[in-house]
Amino acid sequence: MKEDRLKVGCEAFLINLPKFEDPRGNLSFVEQLKHIPFKIERTYWIYDVPGGETRGGHAFKEQKEFIIALSGSFDVVVDDGSTKQLFSLNRSYYGLYIPQGIWRQMENFSTNSLALVLSSTHYNANDYIYDYNNFIAHKSNEE
Ligand code: TYD
Repeated sequence: MKEDRLKVGCEAFLINLPKFEDPRGNLSFVEQLKHIPFKIERTYWIYDVPGGETRGGHAFKEQKEFIIALSGSFDVVVDDGSTKQLFSLNRSYYGLYIPQGIWRQMENFSTNSLALVLSSTHYNANDYIYDYNNFIAHKSNEE
């Protein structure tokens, strides 16, 4: 990844991870501040999602995250307050970087999908923006 890519902080983008292909099975990995532009403070995962369910549907004031479909597939819809974009995650050797201040929803989970989320912060309930109108107000305060 280019150095300048590590410094941008305004929009979500896909990041390819190293992939060691091997007849014994493939291997990928991610290192903080090298493949992703933040230090990892927390890791969580979402699994056993019933068909048709959605997760997320909120924004973070501070938290940056990197989402990988370790197994199966799902979509992540990101919204910066003016533009919405859908990313389909379906391989374990790339993920979606989402900076702070982005509304995001995860949907269309396949059976047995496993979403791994690497986060730049410890869990903090006060970092969540759950109301879309508050999110838009937050974005206009940022400008
Ligand atoms: P939440 O982030 O609201 O899930 P989603 O956005 O996918 O719907 O988290 C669901 C619950 O889990 C909420 O009560 C807080 C708790 N939680 C933690 O305690 N620690 C964590 O790291 C996360 C991500 C959630």
